[in-house]
Amino acid sequence: MKIIGLCASPRPQGNTRRLLRRFLDTCHSLGAEVELLGSPEHGVDFCRGCEQCMRQGTCPVTDDYLSLLPRILGADALVLATPNYAFDVSAQFKAVMDRSHAFLYYSQALRHKYGVGLCVGGHWAMTRKIAKQCGQAVWLCGGSFVGAAWGVSKHRDKKGFVNEKKVCARCDRLARRLVRAVRTRKKYPVSAWVRETFLVSHLRKMFRRRREEYPWVARKLLGD
Ligand SMILES: Cc1cc2nc3c(=O)[nH]c(=O)nc-3n(C[C@H](O)[C@H](O)[C@H](O)COP(=O)(O)O)c2cc1C
Repeated sequence: MKIIGLCASPRPQGNTRRLLRRFLDTCHSLGAEVELLGSPEHGVDFCRGCEQCMRQGTCPVTDDYLSLLPRILGADALVLATPNYAFDVSAQFKAVMDRSHAFLYYSQALRHKYGVGLCVGGHWAMTRKIAKQCGQAVWLCGGSFVGAAWGVSKHRDKKGFVNEKKVCARCDRLARRLVRAVRTRKKYPVSAWVRETFLVSHLRKMFRRRREEYPWVARKLLGD
């Protein structure tokens, strides 16, 4: 079982990375192979909106995203971690999502994979919501959303969370839940039905119509 953690905080000593590291260590202690990827070692530039990915399945922006993608596709589960920046995910996280538009979302490439979201903020407002939003990116791309964990930094320059024990317990619980879900191939039929009914069926219709314009995505999504 391979679990990839993607850290979208630019601070290598920050609390987002610390929470993610703890999460991955717990998964590792339960037998999972884990890998932590992310900023600032992996610079992912902004999407240029050229839609070459939709047409040809390639990207003209030659940066670390191209090496992240096969690792994401090779994993059983993704742990997506972001700091709360301006009541939202960080720009680094958004850059990865934008670049993944065709490769993961339109092509529904995370089918059969599992995901969780982690978020660390300077205060509680929106931090829990962002943690969920971040993990649900996996659901948007065809996978199963297992849950979210979050925490508030005690101080931006010090290690530690407000209610440290509670935050760590929540993180460990979620890590155990993720490993169990991957191991048992847990199904989430209601959320899969919601995605199919309200999202993927519309994507299929759109790409059947626009097959000529976007041949790569159409082939990936429609399987022809
Ligand atoms: C540009 C920027 C914007 C931020 N905006 C928010 C915010 O809207 N809400 C919040 O709770 N914390 C905010 N923070 C605080 C960070 O979420 C907090 O310091 C967190 O610990 C950062 O993660 P890190 O320790 O991994 O760097 C912001 C920090 C920065 C640098």
